[in-house]
Amino acid sequence: MSSQGSNIAHIRKDYRMAELDEATAGDDPLVFFGRWFSEAEKARVLEVNAMTLATVDAEHKPHARIVLLKGLDDKGFVFYTNYQSAKGHNLDANPFVSSVFFWGELERQVRIEGIAEKVETTESDQYFSSRPEGSRIGAWASPQSRIISSREVLEENYQMYTDKFGAQVPRPPHWGGYRIIPHRIEFWQGRSSRMHDRILFVYEEGRWRKFRLAP
Ligand SMILES: Cc1cc2nc3c(=O)[nH]c(=O)nc-3n(C[C@H](O)[C@H](O)[C@H](O)COP(=O)(O)O)c2cc1C
Repeated sequence: MSSQGSNIAHIRKDYRMAELDEATAGDDPLVFFGRWFSEAEKARVLEVNAMTLATVDAEHKPHARIVLLKGLDDKGFVFYTNYQSAKGHNLDANPFVSSVFFWGELERQVRIEGIAEKVETTESDQYFSSRPEGSRIGAWASPQSRIISSREVLEENYQMYTDKFGAQVPRPPHWGGYRIIPHRIEFWQGRSSRMHDRILFVYEEGRWRKFRLAP
C-alpha cells in the first residue's frame, strides 16, 4: 500500500539489540517483568507503563485500548479506570483479559493473560488521593465511554464538581482499580532475521512452568 509518499510494505527493521534465554528469564515471570520494566525505564521508553488492554463483551466481541500500569506486586498488574466504562461492563460480563506492552526502544514485547479483579476499596482510595486535583475532578466529570452531546457538557460537569468539592475530592464509587491476576506471561525479544526469542510462562497446578515458543 502506498499513500502520500509512504510505502508501508517496505517499512522493516532488523532487531539486533539483545537475546533472551530460559536461564535469564528465571523462574518467576513477575520478578522478571519487574526487571524488564526497570530496564525500559532506564532506556527512557516513551509511556513505559502504557499497556494495551483487551477485554471481551457479553456478545464475545473483543475491545482493546491503552491503560496505564499503576501497580505491580507478586499478585499481578494494577490499572485504574471507571467501573461503569465500556471496559468495566465488559469485565462484569467476562473477567478474562489480555494485555500487551511494546517497548520498541528495547525491541521487546510482553504479553499478559489473566483475570481482572477489582482491588480493595482502600487500595483505590490510596491511589486516588495521590492523583492531582484536576484528575480527581475529572473522574467525577467524565461519564467514561458514554455518548455526550458536546465538549461543553464535560466542561460544565468539571466546573460543577470543582464548585461542589473544592480541594477535598472524594473517590467516586464507580472509579477504582483492577488487578490482573496473570496465568500466562510471554516475553518477546526481537532477534535478527525474524528469529526472535519467546519465553512463555504458564501458571499450572500452583506453579509457573516455562516454555520456549517458535517466533
Ligand atoms: C497513553 C494513554 C493512557 C491511558 N490510560 C488510561 C487509564 O489508565 N485508565 C483509563 O480508564 N483510560 C486510560 N486511557 C484511555 C483509554 O484508552 C480509553 O479511551 C478509555 O479508558 C475508555 O475505554 P473504554 O470505552 O473501552 O472503557 C489512556 C489512553 C492513552 C492513550
